Amino acid sequence: MLNRIPTGVKALDDLFDGYLFGVLHGFGGETGSGKTHITAYWPIIQIYKHVTQVEGKLHEQQKFFVLDGDGGFDLERFKQICRANRVPFEEIVNKHLVYKEIVTLKEQHEWIRKIIPKKIKEEHIQPLYIVADPMIVHYRVKILGTPRKYRLAQIGESTGKIAGQLITIRRLAVKYKIPACITSWTAGNIEITTKEESEFGISAVFKEKSPFIGGRAMGYMPKVIVILGRPIRELPLRIAYLYKHRSKPDGITSYFMITGKGLEDAPEKLVKKVEEYLQKRVQKKKRGRKKKTEKEAEEEEE
Ligand SMILES: Nc1ncnc2c1ncn2[C@@H]1O[C@H](COP(=O)(O)OP(=O)(O)OP(=O)(O)O)[C@@H](O)[C@H]1O
Ligand SMILES: [Mg+2]
Repeated sequence: MLNRIPTGVKALDDLFDGYLFGVLHGFGGETGSGKTHITAYWPIIQIYKHVTQVEGKLHEQQKFFVLDGDGGFDLERFKQICRANRVPFEEIVNKHLVYKEIVTLKEQHEWIRKIIPKKIKEEHIQPLYIVADPMIVHYRVKILGTPRKYRLAQIGESTGKIAGQLITIRRLAVKYKIPACITSWTAGNIEITTKEESEFGISAVFKEKSPFIGGRAMGYMPKVIVILGRPIRELPLRIAYLYKHRSKPDGITSYFMITGKGLEDAPEKLVKKVEEYLQKRVQKKKRGRKKKTEKEAEEEEE
């Protein structure tokens, strides 16, 4: 039996296997790196295709849950992707989508901890997928909006709330044997280098120990964590870095593209070109660093 929904993008399936049933996935990355594509539009498309292939059609009680933390889920964009993939946009939106734009941490907590489980039970819903994207906007607002002297207490309370929400989403994923995703922002800078140039032979290096903001549970609860980046702003190419996986070696990267159709494999030629460009950029940076240290040493000697 299938235990996952493939992304259908070879580079991504090779990297993290696709959306696993019963597993909480965490995605992070800078703005525009593709979090909403990879965790909201795309899994709905892929799950819809899978269910219709196996069961003929979706039945009325089958629903996708989308909790939108920043208004990033754009219906026009979703429509484009549906059309390009021959998936009926109106049917999904009118019958199978439970969409909620979240405006406070309290509301997010209520939706995840109470409303969704209650809805599923009372309305006899068969959830197909759950996503909270991004999960940490209102968490961050809450903490930053708290005066300094009470901030530590607020951090404790809010990270506790996020941990509770992660537990509920994971519980629902396990109970209904479906994939679930959350997204966050990365805690530190992502330094994208190339395998050959990196000191450790990997392509993306994190300066911070925790991959995400939102407390320690953000790193522990998802069993698959992927960090996304855009190595060159002008290009549709994106880089995906496997930070953690239950059953695959992590620390590896792959490239994919955001296109009109949604997500696609990147042409090999383009990847090669970008790798070469990144390599040059890294070398230049390294030379710069070396020069700086030499200059500092000279100054010390004087
Ligand atoms: N029709 C399209 N064709 C190609 N690329 C598109 C199209 N629509 C949107 N994009 C690209 O998708 C990217 C945004 O992706 P997405 O919204 O998934 O990013 P994100 O990581 O969720 O960003 P944020 O942190 O701001 O929420 C943008 O770079 C945009 O150019
Ligand atoms: Mg987004």
